[in-house]
Amino acid sequence: MIETRLHDDVLEILIANPPVNALGTKVRQGMFKAIEDADANAAIKAVVIRGSGKLFSGGADISEFGKAPVEPWLPEVVDRIEACSKPVVAVIHGMALGGGLEVALACHYRVATPKTKLGLPEVNLGLLPGAGGTQRLPRLVGVEAALGMIVTGKPVPATKGKEIGLVDLLAEEGELAEAAISFARSQSEVRRTGSLRVNATPEVFENFKAQNARAIGRMEAPLACIEAVKAATELPLDKGQQRERELFMGLMMGAQSKALRHAFFAERTAAKIVGLPEGTQPREISRVGVIGAGTMGGGISMNFLSAGIPVTIVEMAQDALDRGTGVMRKNYEATAAKGRMTSEQVEQAMGLLNPTLDFDALSQCDLIIEAVYENMDVKKDIFGRLDGVAKPGAILASNTSYLDINEIAAATNRPQDVVGMHFFSPANVMKLLEVVRGDKTAADVLVTAMGLGRKVGKVPVVAGVCYGFIGNRMLIPRQTQAVQLLLEGATPAQVDKVHTDFGMPMGPFQMADLAGVDIGWHRDPNRIENIRDALCAQSRWGQKTGAGFYDYDDKRKPSPSPVTQAIIDEFRAKSGVTPREISDEEITARTIYTMVNEGALILEEGIAQRASDIDVVWLYGYGWPRWTGGPMFWANEVGLQAILDGINKYAGQLGPDFKVSSLLQTCAAEGKPLDR
Ligand code: 3HC
Repeated sequence: MIETRLHDDVLEILIANPPVNALGTKVRQGMFKAIEDADANAAIKAVVIRGSGKLFSGGADISEFGKAPVEPWLPEVVDRIEACSKPVVAVIHGMALGGGLEVALACHYRVATPKTKLGLPEVNLGLLPGAGGTQRLPRLVGVEAALGMIVTGKPVPATKGKEIGLVDLLAEEGELAEAAISFARSQSEVRRTGSLRVNATPEVFENFKAQNARAIGRMEAPLACIEAVKAATELPLDKGQQRERELFMGLMMGAQSKALRHAFFAERTAAKIVGLPEGTQPREISRVGVIGAGTMGGGISMNFLSAGIPVTIVEMAQDALDRGTGVMRKNYEATAAKGRMTSEQVEQAMGLLNPTLDFDALSQCDLIIEAVYENMDVKKDIFGRLDGVAKPGAILASNTSYLDINEIAAATNRPQDVVGMHFFSPANVMKLLEVVRGDKTAADVLVTAMGLGRKVGKVPVVAGVCYGFIGNRMLIPRQTQAVQLLLEGATPAQVDKVHTDFGMPMGPFQMADLAGVDIGWHRDPNRIENIRDALCAQSRWGQKTGAGFYDYDDKRKPSPSPVTQAIIDEFRAKSGVTPREISDEEITARTIYTMVNEGALILEEGIAQRASDIDVVWLYGYGWPRWTGGPMFWANEVGLQAILDGINKYAGQLGPDFKVSSLLQTCAAEGKPLDR
């Protein structure tokens, strides 16, 4: 875990704890001892601390959190490093994150490669830097720069680090070790960051809070981070660290950090595919084909172009093709205008695009993603044609959001090569990718789709075949109950508010208006079977027609609609329903608890590999509030019996088709969490 090597009079301490050199118990013990030894050994003049592999350190070992701490604690280790009587230099490549950067901050000097990322991302885990980071960073770089790094959790490149005083020397990767050793040898004094003083007026903190109010939202950790940095301006190091520790432990014990740590591991666990033959290797993908240059096709293509993978995009008519490529260019240019891309990068990405009307051009592609509209016959026809065109071994993927991948695969003579790749709109932005495993999908096809997803920056999750897969299937009971609640007496705004108060970016009706109320509508204005049919019949299709469940002004600002209310009233009267007062508690039970129930059904049917995969789908595809960990984690925390009681209480309202999950019942009865 810790290796030491002597370079004449300079001791090198190497952190060797793959994959990310997390600072687990053994590393902490080894590092503490190595520093003690160096201090005691008169032949050693200076020390360098380095990480093995691709980075310096990814920070404290998160898997140890929530367990009984083992000494020495990281704060003790960093204090010991700073107290060393000989110059200690951190030699940083790749990344120094969290506790990793805190170790570097306790060193007397920092040498890094220009591309190194330095950051304190603890806030993303609902924590604050708990090993002196909130005390040393502001002392070294000033309060404002420190607040920026600690509260947003965003790392800075070492080049920026050099400008703000975080890095003393930049050296290219190949020269780093050598440069650091001679740098260490040439230092005649120790420079302890902890002994510096930093000042700031209270307004600095208040202003920062006000400016970042939206980003902070309902998260506890950012406020605690600000509090801790403030302590650095008011207290000496030891007292400041004490304050930092109290705040850290408070967060660590709290519900938000527990949920956020769950989310961290859930995301990584989702990449693991159950039941793969050992040693399954991905297929090579050097060119991707996309069928359809509409919103989805364009967005999907951009993912690959941005990652440097050439794309052949096929449309049926020149104007649609031109429109599609035009939108892609416009999106890239908008990103460039915001400074997040250079114009050369825009040209580079667009230069990798081959727009064509020639379906046969897909024969060059290793992966072809169909992104046309949701119609089984159309999709089957496309896959039948693809079978005749695609090269042997090419992966044939559908971006369908609901349809049966097995039926689509059966339209080809190579169902083993067919897989679902369900991107979420806008596909160049949303991180979620549901990879749908058909009955016959080959293991290497699945591995390729999952790996490629990660490569282009997505968070891929495996789903089985069913209507709507994981995410959209769970929307169905929510939407059904939401509309039913309107009939019984609730208003769209009341239902939506329960969801936004919960922390969702929008409620069911705001979402319906955004996506289009008419999606899946039968298009017969005379056939009015529910409130949605009634809205559609009056062209209230949502934001795109300026009216849906809500009215919209020119700036798409919604307001409660008297027209919608009249439609609801009329439909109610026709259905013979007398409206009643609906409580928020009932809305929660019928629209959120029922989603949990659907998730449990998804688990028991084996559509999701594990409960945490469902959480990942909702965190990355639908904006479920991350600090609650996702629907399954949240339900486990609320208590499954409470969820079940809520569902049972309204069983009479849930409709004849509503099915209570037997897994949910069993887990509730046995006091076990939902998982498989
Ligand atoms: N502790 C424990 N395990 C960690 C870890 C950590 N800090 N960081 C990563 N891992 C594990 C992952 O769970 C994963 O395990 P798996 O292979 O079994 O699924 C493995 O290491 C590889 O991780 P990634 O797949 O994320 O690897 P990448 O190369 O894509 O990313 C990384 C590397 C950028 C370092 C990323 O892992 C990361 O962001 N890690 C967390 C960084 C962080 O939040 N650090 C702060 C920790 S809290 C802290 O330091 C408290 C202190 O202030 C007291």
